[in-house]
Amino acid sequence: MTKARAYTNIALIKYWGKRSITEMIPYNNSISLTLDQFYTETSVTFTEATTQQKPDQFYFQGQWQAPTNKMTRVLTRIRQMAGLNRQAIIKSENFVPTSAGLASSASAFAALATAGSRAAGLNLSSRELSILARHGSGSASRSVLGGFVEWQAGTDDQSSYAQSLLDPVPFPIVVIALVVNTAPKKILSTAGMQHSVEHSPFYPAWVKTATAALAPMRAAIAQGDIEQIGKLGETNAMQMHATTLSANPPFTYFAPETLQIWQLVQEIRTKGLSCYLTLDAGPNPKLICAKQDVASITTQLHQALPKLAWTVCQPGPAVQIID
Ligand code: PMV
Repeated sequence: MTKARAYTNIALIKYWGKRSITEMIPYNNSISLTLDQFYTETSVTFTEATTQQKPDQFYFQGQWQAPTNKMTRVLTRIRQMAGLNRQAIIKSENFVPTSAGLASSASAFAALATAGSRAAGLNLSSRELSILARHGSGSASRSVLGGFVEWQAGTDDQSSYAQSLLDPVPFPIVVIALVVNTAPKKILSTAGMQHSVEHSPFYPAWVKTATAALAPMRAAIAQGDIEQIGKLGETNAMQMHATTLSANPPFTYFAPETLQIWQLVQEIRTKGLSCYLTLDAGPNPKLICAKQDVASITTQLHQALPKLAWTVCQPGPAVQIID
């Protein structure tokens, strides 16, 4: 048995759309920050039984269930690489701070790729692990690494992987994950991005602007310029969400509270604090700010929205083997 722990990440320049659905190749590079507050621990054991004799088994949230298609995709690749035809037993647990609203497939597939490949006797490099995790979920390719990470879109299976930009992070960047809604999302990211690719006339402009934002984001990270990282991140997030609003038929991941918080963030900025908002395929915003401003920002959030819950996250580490 091998057990791995992987942390989730927040994209600052987002991945939104696949050039190749079968190979999971994105249209543009993305840049993220791995977070320290939400992680998945997954153990994998290959038994003596063959896959013909016994199907894989998956223990999650206290019960046995069939592995998902995405999990099977990753396990099949591991077996092919290792020349192994054994049944896998997977046990997985998500560690979420009280109502974090941070659920993500990124940590889950980075942990599965790492534990599964090691249990099969493979000793993969972080590049190979990133490629493997990508087949479970695009954002998982980045959770293999800690700190700031860039996923190179590439053009084929072997050229699409994440690389470290900066780890450890020597400046006090913080991400405040806010929870406005913990219900499962109605439009999963895979369906949402595909709809945007096919039905938004703005989609080509998204690829162009996201690609153009990469060099400024890399520079802001290299300079430790938290304000600039936030500014570029907020603009990029809104440009991603513009592809959903401009699709036909249109849709949005925003909830009324999301806009309310965005307005609040803009007000907080007028008071001289640096605070920017990003959000993924769901209504829960994440605020990018400096550690010394967390108390002032959360006090203002609490005054305006007394029921709002949040988790303060700092840069998190790369995937680790823990057993
Ligand atoms: O990795 P997926 O398939 O869950 O897609 C992630 C998409 C976003 O979270 C919206 C953006 C990103 O780059 O993480």
